[in-house]
Amino acid sequence: ALITLRQLLDHAAECGYGVPAFNINNMEQGLAILRAAKACDAPVILQASRGARSYAGDIMLRHMVEALAEMFPDIPVVLHQDHGNNDATCLSAIRHGFTSVMMDGSLEEDMKTPASFEYNVDITRRVTRAAHAVGASVEGELGVLGSLETGEAGEEDGSGAAGKLSHDQLLTDPDQAVDFVMATGCDALAIACGTSHGAYKFSRKPDGEILSMATIASIHEKLPDTHLVMHGSSSVPQELQDLINSSGGDMAQTYGVPVEEIERGIKMGVRKVNIDTDCRMAMTGMFRKVAKEKPAEFDPRKFLIPAMEELEKLCRDRFERFGTAGHA
Ligand code: G3H
Ligand code: 13P
Ligand code: NA
Ligand code: ZN
Repeated sequence: ALITLRQLLDHAAECGYGVPAFNINNMEQGLAILRAAKACDAPVILQASRGARSYAGDIMLRHMVEALAEMFPDIPVVLHQDHGNNDATCLSAIRHGFTSVMMDGSLEEDMKTPASFEYNVDITRRVTRAAHAVGASVEGELGVLGSLETGEAGEEDGSGAAGKLSHDQLLTDPDQAVDFVMATGCDALAIACGTSHGAYKFSRKPDGEILSMATIASIHEKLPDTHLVMHGSSSVPQELQDLINSSGGDMAQTYGVPVEEIERGIKMGVRKVNIDTDCRMAMTGMFRKVAKEKPAEFDPRKFLIPAMEELEKLCRDRFERFGTAGHA
């Protein structure tokens, strides 16, 4: 059944687990994620970006997620708008059956220009008031996602800031976080701690200099009852880089967020963990493997079945390690 983000994260906080939020664009991703959730008896957050909504279409997405909920009746499902850029995006998502929205006011509408605190509070408060009036949840974001190594936002996917960012922007200020949550009434807070979107997060295995778990600890100390959200939380596993590169791919060596750091984060109040890149790599790695090993193959299902299995395996691992398993 569809539930709200608030319902799920309140339960997660009560029981001390985290929930992966997997991005979804198509049926195969949906089936793989729900099969994993069923195997682990885990609740699940499916999130669609603006790009996903235009790729699949709102009507397709709504019916697809309703179909998944019907096929897997024992699994609680949240349908969440990832990185809403304005009121209209968030409210149209809710009209199309989303039970939760992220109003990302850390950036202006263009999703590139870092926004002022006042702009962020104003738009997040407005969206929260409207969403709560119809029973939907809201995730806000304070701080700008980007690399503490380079000051850059990460991949140019429409969700990254332009220009060099300062450490002040890249690490959420705990006192400001208190003011933000008080002023907006949002249900969950995405914070910045040195992660960025996409595969190229860190040039080495991250330590406290470039991945600031201490920031999360300080925020949790001041806001013990607020559900924290970690974006850019793909681990970019070496095995998936190797799978892609050994089957004709050409990805440069890179490092993501180690799963053990996320496990530490969950102990410090992180409840929602956003993962897209790892899912993309799992599927694409298997497409490539089949294409390389069976060059005569042209039935898409022969590519998609192993791709779904690889994605399901990844999702099962995260449900187990985040403690989501057993909580459906
Ligand atoms: O925040 C970025 C997510 O990975 C979604 O990416 O906008 O390409 O769908 P997308
Ligand atoms: P990754 O690129 O690390 O998977 O992050 C996804 C994300 O934060 C979506 O909002
Ligand atoms: Na989100
Ligand atoms: Zn994100």
